[in-house]
Amino acid sequence: MQSYWIESVKNENEYKELKEDIRTDVCIIGGGITGVSVAYKLAKENLNIILIEKDKMGYQTTGNSTSKITSQHGLFYKYLKDSKGEEFAKKYYEANENAIKDISNIIKEEKIDCDYEKQSAFIFAQSEEEDKKVKEEVEIVQSFGGRAKYIAKENIDKKVMNLNPISAIEFENQAQFNSYKYVSSLTEICKNYGVSIYENTKVVEVKNEENYYTVHTENGCSIRTKYLVVATKYPIINMPGFYFMKMYQSTSYAIAIETKEKLFEGMYISSANPKISLRTAKENDGYLLIVVGSDHKTGEDIDLTNSYKNLEDIAKKIYPVENIKYYWNTEDCITLDKIPYIGSYSKMWENAYVATGFNKWGITTSNIAAEIISDNILGKENEYEELYTSTRLEPIKNNTEMGNMLKETVNSLIIKKLKIPQEIEEKVKIGEGKIVEINGEKIGIYRNEKGILYRIIPKCKHLGCELIWNNLDKTWDCPCHGSRYDYKGKTIYGPTVKDLEKS
Ligand SMILES: Cc1cc2nc3c(=O)[nH]c(=O)nc-3n(C[C@H](O)[C@H](O)[C@H](O)COP(=O)(O)OP(=O)(O)OC[C@H]3O[C@@H](n4cnc5c(N)ncnc54)[C@H](O)[C@@H]3O)c2cc1C
Ligand code: FES
Repeated sequence: MQSYWIESVKNENEYKELKEDIRTDVCIIGGGITGVSVAYKLAKENLNIILIEKDKMGYQTTGNSTSKITSQHGLFYKYLKDSKGEEFAKKYYEANENAIKDISNIIKEEKIDCDYEKQSAFIFAQSEEEDKKVKEEVEIVQSFGGRAKYIAKENIDKKVMNLNPISAIEFENQAQFNSYKYVSSLTEICKNYGVSIYENTKVVEVKNEENYYTVHTENGCSIRTKYLVVATKYPIINMPGFYFMKMYQSTSYAIAIETKEKLFEGMYISSANPKISLRTAKENDGYLLIVVGSDHKTGEDIDLTNSYKNLEDIAKKIYPVENIKYYWNTEDCITLDKIPYIGSYSKMWENAYVATGFNKWGITTSNIAAEIISDNILGKENEYEELYTSTRLEPIKNNTEMGNMLKETVNSLIIKKLKIPQEIEEKVKIGEGKIVEINGEKIGIYRNEKGILYRIIPKCKHLGCELIWNNLDKTWDCPCHGSRYDYKGKTIYGPTVKDLEKS
């Protein structure tokens, strides 16, 4: 299941697999919006740049996002002011506003066709308690010169009124686009500037060798590079860096419904949890209503059956749903303090950089990341780098995110759960997947619609946690750091770089 953004684009650009050992100045691992944006920022410099992607460019989180470009990241500025101080909140806002302008400039200068549209971003409150938070958030943003407006109930768009909002915050001059079209075009532009791009080339190991890095690929090739950029969303190198100790992944679901007219102007997100995100998109002669939500920690052992249905119920309040044209889901990394990690990969690794933990706002923040990392490589100061210091180690104050990180993890680290059914595989029904114990060994089994059985060892190849069967997507998901595998055991999402063992 791919997103509307990917499905609707006929992208004929293909990039070859790396099949030889090479040397370069900069090696960027990961062909999402972060990797491509870093490549673009460096492309006009006198540097040899290589960009490596394990599958297809833009096919992972970037191509499955909601594609909003905004400095409005939920009710975030009060949180920032309280936890990091007013100056921090102000700079965070400025950095994101600059990113919005820069993305718009890139689109104009490079003449990128990506359905870019200026829009306001709204956060809507649905209770008196949330309304108070909305008012407070507006005051905080205004106090440091930000342009947030309080919108009373009567001025909210009529279609959105069906969700019973009491009030909203408006950030003007934000934007929406098709993130996959943007990344696909930017990749071609990078290639034309001389960046070497490789698809279907998975990195499995990186070695630090006296101021150089050697990047090893699954097919046995190696790249020797001075500068290394890890843009794989979840960093694939465990040590140094230890990002697996300070992040988890969260999955969200999306549906797109055909509508005859454009239902509303603006992009919307609810202030309270569970978060609901709404936007429209133009499709051929008509429009789409896109609803995103049903978040959960990846690998959490919960019933996911209604993940899409819940979104459909919300859509129905806005428009009579006849046809859900697209369904998709994806995941992003959440840090313990909700601020991304951007900059040096580790104090122990000179000239190695990372950008991760975008908290589901990386379409926008990847632009900031690209500025910081390219400035670092070019030896320039960057006024926003201190906000995102990737090597920060602070006392953990955020109990919610700490709780989320540990949820299911402790159990899963011990690959010996209670309550494993002592069943024989014949009892696994059509369309069902589960972990069973056969002759004292745990085996993950899935039986497809044709009755064919697929057997894997349900032990994550990242750090060995026990996997959970995701019956909605037919995937094996890891509760520890969010790696996901298809039912045959092939890696979909990292941090794992290895496929599951077959049983
Ligand atoms: C449901 C949802 C909606 C979102 N909506 C928005 C939004 O509206 N606005 C916003 O600002 N942000 C949004 N985000 C967040 C945003 O989509 C992400 O933060 C951003 O796309 C991350 O980009 P990336 O390039 O870092 O990661 P990715 O797009 O995941 O790219 C990483 C790439 O690295 C590759 N890779 C991984 N491992 C290897 C390896 N071993 N070797 C080689 N390549 C490898 C992957 O295949 C992948 O292509 C949303 C997130 C979610 C989950
Ligand atoms: S993702 Fe880390 S152990 Fe599975």
